[in-house]
Amino acid sequence: MYPTGELIVVDRPAAQAWIGLSRLVVTDFRSYARAELALDGRPVVLTGENGAGKTNLLEAISLLSAGRGIRGVPYAEIARDCGAGGWAVAATLEMAQGPVRIGTGIEPGTEPAARSRSVRIDGEPAGPSALATLLRTVWLTPAMDRLFVDGASERRHFFDRLVMGFDPAHGARVNAYDRALRERNRLLADNIFDDAWLAGLETQMAEHGVAIAAARVETLARLRGALEAAETDVFPRAGLVLDGTLEAALEGEAAVDLEDGFRRTLVEMRGRDAAAGRALAGPHRTDLAVRHMAQDREARSCSTGEQKALLIGIVLANARLLAARGTPPLLLLDEIAAHLDGKRRAALFDEIVALGLQAFMTGADPSLFETLGARAQNFRVARGTIENAD
Ligand SMILES: Nc1ncnc2c1ncn2[C@@H]1O[C@H](COP(=O)(O)OP(=O)(O)O)[C@@H](O)[C@H]1O
Ligand SMILES: [Mg+2]
Repeated sequence: MYPTGELIVVDRPAAQAWIGLSRLVVTDFRSYARAELALDGRPVVLTGENGAGKTNLLEAISLLSAGRGIRGVPYAEIARDCGAGGWAVAATLEMAQGPVRIGTGIEPGTEPAARSRSVRIDGEPAGPSALATLLRTVWLTPAMDRLFVDGASERRHFFDRLVMGFDPAHGARVNAYDRALRERNRLLADNIFDDAWLAGLETQMAEHGVAIAAARVETLARLRGALEAAETDVFPRAGLVLDGTLEAALEGEAAVDLEDGFRRTLVEMRGRDAAAGRALAGPHRTDLAVRHMAQDREARSCSTGEQKALLIGIVLANARLLAARGTPPLLLLDEIAAHLDGKRRAALFDEIVALGLQAFMTGADPSLFETLGARAQNFRVARGTIENAD
């Protein structure tokens, strides 16, 4: 139905090898009937008035990775109001081994509650988790300004996305764990104390749960190292702790013992979980505690600007690690200049350029990006259109 990714081969000297998007086409995607961007690997600045469609474009890019994207809404909601009812995002991803075409979307007529979308890689159908091995995408949005203040689940999702950068299978494991968890919740809620059925689900939860916790602990160690090694103190150093029983236990116990221990805990907790209407223990409850080290203060009681700076420091540490492994992330930085003073803005831009990251940055005011100059590609967004503004 939609042209999800015809092959466009971009001629580029080998010396300019980079990893990122060279082409992006969105069709019937929110405010866009069709829009196309040609990209050359520099960071991308998107400016335009409120409601112009900047975040919509970041959302389109976020759907090139596994999951529901930066807004996390049902897929049918994304289709353009006056369009045919479906939507598509097609992109060409430049990789070290050559270009890869990615296409994703839903067909017109997809039911509103549909939980899946189609994904094609080089024209072949693929599962969303295949995207995780191709692209590492990390985003910061205005909604995340409250990341340290609101509940644990957003912080856990944020951290799990960082884990996926190192371990692409992590997302699929979290989904498998969640499926088993939901089914167990449903059985307990319906008073179906079928021992074999519950035990099967609990075994799955224990297997996936320990693997999830182990991947988190590994990423945590990497991030701590990168945060400590950071050369600049423009972004305050964050102290990270995973507040979860499995994660804490992994420091002392072998994974096999832990798996059996967690499985037995789940069996013992059936009654209490049934009464509570949810599972009270497990890696789905883990929180990421963040501390402003220089101030010796919990992130949630720092100023809004300091919280943003802490978050950017974590994202940059993660990007440095991934870039060093040859898999630099795409950064989606929505309204990034808000709450950042000039010094921090300049440091952020310098680091993005130094790491060769394709960061997509949005803002209403073009002057906030002036110091980037020709180091970035500039686009002007207005109601359903995107124009090159270099
Ligand atoms: N499904 C949709 N169909 C058409 N327009 C949409 C749809 N969803 C959102 N929009 C429009 O997109 C605009 C918001 O775009 P957004 O990217 O959030 O703006 P901003 O440039 O401020 O980030 C709103 O004006 C909204 O009406
Ligand atoms: Mg916006």
